[in-house]
Amino acid sequence: DKNILQDSFGRDHAYLRISLIERCNLRCSYCMPEEGVQLSPKSHLMTYEEIYDIAKTFVKHGVTKIRLTGGEPLIRKDIPIILEKLATLPVELSITSNAIIIDRFIEVLKTNGVKSINVSLDSLDREKFKHITRRDQFEKVYNNILLLVKEGFKVKLNAVLMKDFNDNEIIDFINFTKDLPISVRFIEFMPFDGNKWDMSKMVSYAEVMDYVNASFTEEQIERLQDAPNDTSKNYKIKGYKGSFAIISSVTNPFCDSCNRLRLTANGQLKNCLFSATESDLLTTLRQGKPIEPIIKKAVLAKLKVRGGMNTIEKLQEPKLHNNNRSMITIGG
Ligand code: GTP
Ligand code: 5AD
Ligand code: SF4
Repeated sequence: DKNILQDSFGRDHAYLRISLIERCNLRCSYCMPEEGVQLSPKSHLMTYEEIYDIAKTFVKHGVTKIRLTGGEPLIRKDIPIILEKLATLPVELSITSNAIIIDRFIEVLKTNGVKSINVSLDSLDREKFKHITRRDQFEKVYNNILLLVKEGFKVKLNAVLMKDFNDNEIIDFINFTKDLPISVRFIEFMPFDGNKWDMSKMVSYAEVMDYVNASFTEEQIERLQDAPNDTSKNYKIKGYKGSFAIISSVTNPFCDSCNRLRLTANGQLKNCLFSATESDLLTTLRQGKPIEPIIKKAVLAKLKVRGGMNTIEKLQEPKLHNNNRSMITIGG
């Protein structure tokens, strides 16, 4: 099918992640430098009409899933309109949020068919939460997670693990799934511009499993079937309502089954989370020219593993990951 976005390794791209905004109401240290990032001038950001137009083109080329990210997508003023417009497309629509203000959006999310929400929460301890996010908003996030579950959303919780900071909470997080039907995902800390990444700060998939194996018997731990194109390896403790998973982009990349493309808030297409090059869709759209050729070319240029950083040694070369953006303007 000529309309499918297939790359040179035979991977089909049916999943688009759209970053709606470069700003956030938290300042997580693994996501952005302390001094902040250079923001795009407002005129360089996609309007909701442009987001819709670009999304429509992707849908025409086989995209069936759109995830909205940020920064924090919910602090964008026109988020209700964006949801309404995208809800008219034949896609599964979901969102990744820090959940601080999500209680104000329950109805609009439901009306527009959002069923699944991924929430960032790196610690179950208020002081640690404050330390990592540089804001004192733990209660809001915690209560909103409970609210989302109560309102019937499928909730995945994202915890980026940092050595000697929150790795001692792995079992607390798993116990959080005992009575709560959520999936907690432990994420290997990944390198981006300005986040002071260092392999020694990362907690690996293997280390997470060491903690799990020390607290539960082999009998209790069940390896679940992963969803197609899933980023995570899924497990559960037998009898618990929820599950847990590991997202191991560093030690066990899942690029073979990658189906994702990314659109930044300033209208640049990234063919990989780690791609150093971007394709300017917004300027072309504003010139009234077709964006299809640019999209196809970008997909064909996608590299096999982690934007070319195919070994851990390459990932450790600062000059490579500093070619990329800060995570806050990619959206994960
Ligand atoms: P769904 O599968 O749609 O539920 O989303 P997700 O779990 O992939 O996305 P989410 O926004 O919750 O991100 C969770 C973590 O996975 C973040 O650390 C993301 O950076 C990471 N992630 C998401 N997509 C990719 C990807 O394509 N490649 C890599 N390496 N990591 C990814
Ligand atoms: N490494 C791994 N995950 C990260 N996220 C943000 N920065 C990083 C990083 N450096 C995650 C957040 C958020 C998701 C979109 O990306 O936890 O939930
Ligand atoms: Fe896809 Fe790049 Fe992520 Fe690998 S690192 S799964 S190629 S986006």
